[in-house]
Amino acid sequence: RKILVLNGPNLNLLGTREPAIYGHQTLADVEALCREAAAGAGFGLGFLQSNHEGALIDALHAARGEAAGIVLNPGAFTHTSVAIADAISGIGLPVVEVHISNVHRREPFRHHSYVSPVAAAVIVGAGTNGYRLAIHHLASLV
Ligand code: DQA
Repeated sequence: RKILVLNGPNLNLLGTREPAIYGHQTLADVEALCREAAAGAGFGLGFLQSNHEGALIDALHAARGEAAGIVLNPGAFTHTSVAIADAISGIGLPVVEVHISNVHRREPFRHHSYVSPVAAAVIVGAGTNGYRLAIHHLASLV
């Protein structure tokens, strides 16, 4: 069985994007750590990043029957997207929401998440280690 890790807009810039906030690890580093964590828990890994809301929604739909659970960092869509929240409700798979930065220590517009009410768990401010924690949690759930 497989765990799907989905990353939203601007996360392709990880490593060079505002390193004081997001650190120096690249998305490729995140993929490697996710692969290792999933393998350690006996799961395969799907890994996808998109800057497009619709592509993320399509990936959530396609995960049905493909993945046991999903790790999702929706990026800025966290704070704007009813459509992503509806997709999560619609697919009936456990989703762990991850934010690299502590969004609650940042601008007020980052304090609200449309995704959190439909997430199985939320991991915030643990850096890229949050992806590892999310995979461990999903593995214990499914
Ligand atoms: C983020 C936090 C969001 O507010 C921001 O728009 C991102 C990244 C994080 O991982 O800390 O793109 O989801």
